[in-house]
This record gives sequence, C-alpha cells and structure tokens, in this order.
Amino acid sequence: MEEKLRELEERRAKVLAGGGPKRVAAQHEKGKMTARERIEMLLDPGTFVELDAFVRHRATELGMDKVDAPGEGVVTGYGAVNGRHVCVFAQDFTVIGGSLGEMHAAKICKVMDLAVKIGCPLIGINDSGGARIQEGVDALSGYGEIFYRNTCASGVIPQISVIMGPCAGGAVYSPALTDFVFMTEGTSNMFITGPQVIKAVTGEEVSAEDLGGARVHSEISGVSHFSFPDEQSTMEAIRKLLSYLPQNNVEDPPFVDVGDDPNRIDDSLGDLMPDSPNKPYDVRDIITRLVDSSDFFEVQPNYAKNIVVGFARLAGRSIGIIANQPRYLAGVLDINASDKAARFIRFCDAFNIPLLTLADTAGYLPGVGQEHGGVIRHGAKLLYAYSEATVPKLTVILRKAYGGAYIAMCSRHLGADQIFAWPTAEIAVMGPEGAANIIFKKEIEEASDPAAVRQQKIEEYKRSFANPYTAAARGYVDDVIDPAHTRMRLCNALNALLGKRQSTPSRKHGNIPV
Ligand code: HXC
Repeated sequence: MEEKLRELEERRAKVLAGGGPKRVAAQHEKGKMTARERIEMLLDPGTFVELDAFVRHRATELGMDKVDAPGEGVVTGYGAVNGRHVCVFAQDFTVIGGSLGEMHAAKICKVMDLAVKIGCPLIGINDSGGARIQEGVDALSGYGEIFYRNTCASGVIPQISVIMGPCAGGAVYSPALTDFVFMTEGTSNMFITGPQVIKAVTGEEVSAEDLGGARVHSEISGVSHFSFPDEQSTMEAIRKLLSYLPQNNVEDPPFVDVGDDPNRIDDSLGDLMPDSPNKPYDVRDIITRLVDSSDFFEVQPNYAKNIVVGFARLAGRSIGIIANQPRYLAGVLDINASDKAARFIRFCDAFNIPLLTLADTAGYLPGVGQEHGGVIRHGAKLLYAYSEATVPKLTVILRKAYGGAYIAMCSRHLGADQIFAWPTAEIAVMGPEGAANIIFKKEIEEASDPAAVRQQKIEEYKRSFANPYTAAARGYVDDVIDPAHTRMRLCNALNALLGKRQSTPSRKHGNIPV
C-alpha cells in the first residue's frame, strides 16, 4: 500500500507542478498567476475539489506522442464562493500554452455538465493559445462541444468568463456566449483574427492590446462587462457579482439584510434634480441614495455611458437597475445603450432579479449613423426585453419621458407593475420646444413678435402636457411622489410584488431582433 500511495503522491505532484518551474516563472514574469493560484484566489479558502487531474491527451501526430501535458492544460473542479457552490475551470498556460485539445475540452465539458446538473454558477478562466494545432479537427470539435453547452446552460445557471491571457480565434465565442466577461488590464486580449493576420489581409497595423485589450472591449466593443487592473481585483469583483445572483434559474437571489431602513426618507434626493430640465446630473447619485447602504455594482460602466445598468439591493432583495444617464449624451437611447440594457434586462429576468427603471430621456438619438446602423432593430431589443420580462418591474420617471423612449423605459404599456413619477416628470410625445414649433407653427409665423409668441406657446404646452399629471390621470402612472419618499415607496412596492406570478402562452421561444 505504501508504495501505491507514494506513486499516487508522485503522480499528483507532477500534475500540480503544471508546466514546471521555468514556465511558471515565465507566467509570473508576465504579471500572471498560474491556473491553480487563480482558483485559490477566487474560491473560499480550502474549498477547491479538483476533478480529472489525471486526464491525458491521446494525440500522436506531430510529435504529440512524446508530449506530456500535466492536467491536459486545464484545471477543473468545484468549490465555494461566499459559502455557495460554484464550478470552475482555469486554463493552464504553462502547459502547451493552455491550448485546447480533445481531452482538454472534455474536462471543460464535464465540469460544465456538472454545473448544470447541480444548478450552480460556472466560472471559466481563459488563458490559452486557442485550438491545439497538433490535434486538428479534434480540437475544433472540442470548441463546438463547449459552445453548445454554453448555449444550453444560458438562462439556467449564471456563466462567467474571465480573460487573463490570450483568447483568440473561435475561442472567443465561448466567453461571448456567457453572461459576463471579465478582463484583466494589460495581460488579456480577445480577437477573432490577430494583428499579424489583419496586417496580411487589410494592411492595418495594430498591437494586440489596441486590437483587443481590456480597455478596447470594455469601452468600445462592449464585449467585456468589467475590466480590472490586476487579477486580485478581478477575482474580488467576481465574488461580489455572485453575491447578487441566485445559484440557478429556479432559485431566488440571496436575501442580504444590511440594516438599511426600508422607510428611510432622503430629503436630498429632490435637490439632486436641477431646476432647468436641460441641465445634466449624474443618475448614479440618485441610485446610491435609493439602494441599501449606497451599494451599487455597475455593469459595463465604461460602455454606452448614456445608460447605466447594474445590481443593488432594496430592503435586502437583489434588483437590477436600468437608468438613463443625463450626464452622457443627455441620456438618449441609441444602438449601444439599447443593446447593453436589453441584454442586462434579459439576464435579470432569467434569474428572477426584479427590475428597477429610472427614466429621464428625451428619446432615441437622431442621426444618419444611427439609422444606417440599425437603431430600429437594436432599439426594438429594449422593447422586447422589457415586454417579455415577467419579474417584478418598478419604474420611476424622474424627468423626461418623451415619445418612444417613454414607452421603451419600462412603461405601463410594456408591463411595468408599479410606476411612480417625480413632480419634475415630463411625459409627452415630445419636448415643449419641438412640440410648440409644430403645433403652433402658423400662429408663431404670423405673430408680430414670433419669439414672444413662441415662448408663450412653449409655456402653455408645458403647463398642459409636460408634467406627470396627464399620464397619472389615465392611470399610466400609479402615483406622483415626493422624491424624498422614493426608497420607501420602492421597498414597499417590491415587497408587495415578490409573489408576482405571470404566465405566458406556451411557445418554443420568441424571436428577439438581433
Ligand atoms: C499548440 C501552442 C498553441 C496552439 C501556443 N502553443 N499556442 N501549441 N497549439 N494553439 C504553445 C507554444 O508552441 C509554446 O510551446 C507554448 O504554447 C507557449 O507559447 P509561446 O508562443 O511561447 O507564448 P507567447 O510568446 O506568450 O505567445 C502566446 C500566443 C502564441 C500569442 C498565444 O503562442 C500564439 O500565437 N499561439 C497560436 C495562436 C493561434 O493561432 N491559435 C489558433 C487560433 S484559431 P513551447 O513548447 O515552446 O513552450 C483557433 C480556432 C478555434 O483557436 C476555432 C473554434 C471554433
């Protein structure tokens, strides 16, 4: 027995050493941790249970018969985050560059299947040279199996991708199919075709960082939801994100009582709204005053900044917040903002997280670029996402809610359960200036002092239409409230709506505009 145990120990030690001290040192020199160090950083101490440590590849071509690949270049298993189970895989760049072959993929698929079976989040840490070239079509088939599982698990368990090294070619599509993509600044990149191929095909010269680094994907492409300066802060953010989420689609998110009084009245809220309807403010100042302990976890903070989305809690319950941001582009809705918000809404709905919408937008962004870019089809995603969501939906109209944007920002007509308006709300087909110019055109043109008449008509329109009371008179708004009471009213409404049940006709699936 002793000899057998010694052999087991030796074999395990070899696996734990990964690609060996030289390659581990090279990994550290790049400012990157090893796969095992990353898992340790992510999980609660001592909770990791490794699976398939002894899996080996069975490739023989191109010298692979002589290649020993400890752990097959990927560490898989399960453990706990904040005391709750998660499944995890981490590609090991020190072993054949973390490249994905048949058995490497099989390990990932097995842990994905386990996550779905037990109903827990899956976190995949990517650091890989892509398809293992020597394994040819077996490597490609491995990616296909992973994409298939990512898709089947979508909306069943939360899936989080972490990019901590190269992620190139078709490999990028596994993260793209998951719910949230985290990138570490300076050491991660994602692209379909790398700088060399681009140079050969289009003649463009670009570095890997400028092509697909963390900044590019979190600010320009919207592929990544979060970027952090180092691996430690990335892992801490993942743990925080998970704290808002249920384990799977048949659970509710965890209740976390931080002791913030649901009836707390905040007189400063009204003061945050500028006197002039055209003056910007930061909607995050309103969000942090409304939610428990001012704790707001923003998603995609640097992409499509004209809309703010993220997680928070009201009276201990997780909520997803969608808010127009008057500080950027006056909070207009455009292609990117619609995409960003629609995807977030669908995630929340899939995982039983109620929605809170804060509306203050003059409408969709005018422009040839937007029209030619398909703002019709992208903007429609927002309508679709809100309409199909069956979780409790609360809306507060803070200021402007004009035209299509009034409807799109979770109006009664798209199924909002409770709608409050601040007294500063302006709910109408369009803003007073535009409306007066159109409906009083003739009177203004014919007046001896057109400017004075125009101003008079604008004021008239404001009194009659640019307020919350016309909508409240129709019951489109449930109540007009003092801003100071907003938290109390929202907590109360959310509590009342927790038992909401909404059934929809049976169908295979809808067909969201993409
Ligand atoms: C086999 C690979 C590999 C791969 C890296 N290695 N990528 N082995 N298949 N795809 C090996 C290297 O040979 C090397 O082995 C070790 O991993 C470390 O790689 P280095 O090149 O020394 O590291 P570095 O200088 O940091 O460069 C990393 C890299 C580069 C940028 C990722 O290795 C690279 O360009 N690799 C190829 C990327 C690629 O084209 N992949 C295919 C993408 S297409 P030794 O023994 O020397 O240490 C794809 C299709 C998927 O993935 C389709 C799915 C639908």
